[in-house]
Amino acid sequence: PSVENMLLLSDFEEWAERVLGATGWNYYRSAADSEATFDNNEAAFKRYFFRPRILRDITQGSLETEVLGQKTAMPVFISPAAMAKLGHPVGEVNLTRGAGAAGIVQGISINASCSLDEIMAARQAGQNVWFQIYLNRDRAASERLLEKVTALGAAAVIFTVDVAWQSKRTRDVRGKAAVAAPIATTDAEGARGTAGKQGAGVASAISGYQDPHLVWSDIEFIRKHTSLPIIVKGVQSVEDVAACVDAGVQGVILSNHGGRSADYAPAPIDLLYELRALRPDLFDKVDIMMDGGVRSGADVVKALALGAKAVGLGRPFLYANSTHGQDGVERVFLHEEITNTMRNCGVSRVEDLKPEMVGPAGPWVG
Ligand code: FNR
Repeated sequence: PSVENMLLLSDFEEWAERVLGATGWNYYRSAADSEATFDNNEAAFKRYFFRPRILRDITQGSLETEVLGQKTAMPVFISPAAMAKLGHPVGEVNLTRGAGAAGIVQGISINASCSLDEIMAARQAGQNVWFQIYLNRDRAASERLLEKVTALGAAAVIFTVDVAWQSKRTRDVRGKAAVAAPIATTDAEGARGTAGKQGAGVASAISGYQDPHLVWSDIEFIRKHTSLPIIVKGVQSVEDVAACVDAGVQGVILSNHGGRSADYAPAPIDLLYELRALRPDLFDKVDIMMDGGVRSGADVVKALALGAKAVGLGRPFLYANSTHGQDGVERVFLHEEITNTMRNCGVSRVEDLKPEMVGPAGPWVG
């Protein structure tokens, strides 16, 4: 079907399953163990409803906002996800061009399948990208990589911390695919240690260099080797949001890696609600973002109203890239759905969304 007929993000998923090879589909769709967290990431959004307000002229306004003090056309970003070439030969460069056209931020995975130089060269003038890193057992390699992405002009470093240990990505393991190490990682000398893991699934083949010994002081290591703002991705408890504030980082992404790490980790939208209820003060101290299970404009607006500065999507971009390339990618930004939802709730500017506009399903009394 033409991209105009892809009305819901689930349309991309449905077609991606048909067009992707088994390796790509199993890797993209897979999640840890029983996939309880994967299922709940999406299901949790369905348990929140709006309290729309009426009779406010909502015709003026836009989705423009700032994250980390950086302007963005919409409070939506591409969550860094590996191996876009498994779905489309142009790979991550389609994401870069799509993000550039829409004026939003792309998170670039350290395990991208296009080289970092290719991706950075595909940017428009002034286009912001955030580079995601896993720390290497060989810290000298991480140092060189941090220096390289800083020199190439990334606008932030995303430090992903929710894969402290390996997990069993059930479909991916069953698929037993063997893949070559991703190019961006090879550039960074990150692929060391992956040899001999072939035939155990994609995740296993590309992750061998990651350091499992991570501790809070590793944030200092990153800060020492880059002047860029630091975003910690994969925060899964209220306590750790507070610890991130203490560590002095500029951003946090509430995330459970799309259900790919600890099965039964909480849904990020539930954690956001909990954080809003228990520690509203933290929203002024660090830019809080979330990803996981976002599949509609309504989902985005719920998270924004609860205080997220921006909302990320992972799989939907990989799926849309696989079926429609850059045109598909641009559809996933959900500009129309977000605008419709906001305005039908009585709001036309992102900063006018308020926590009291969202609550659990059912009547709010008592
Ligand atoms: C990911 N994710 C991820 N995160 C990260 O920090 N570095 C990475 O290399 C990857 N790779 C990756 C590959 C694939 C195939 C998926 C599906 C996910 C996690 C990603 O950034 C994001 O947290 C989740 O995808 C969000 O959940 P949804 O939107 O896929 O439900």
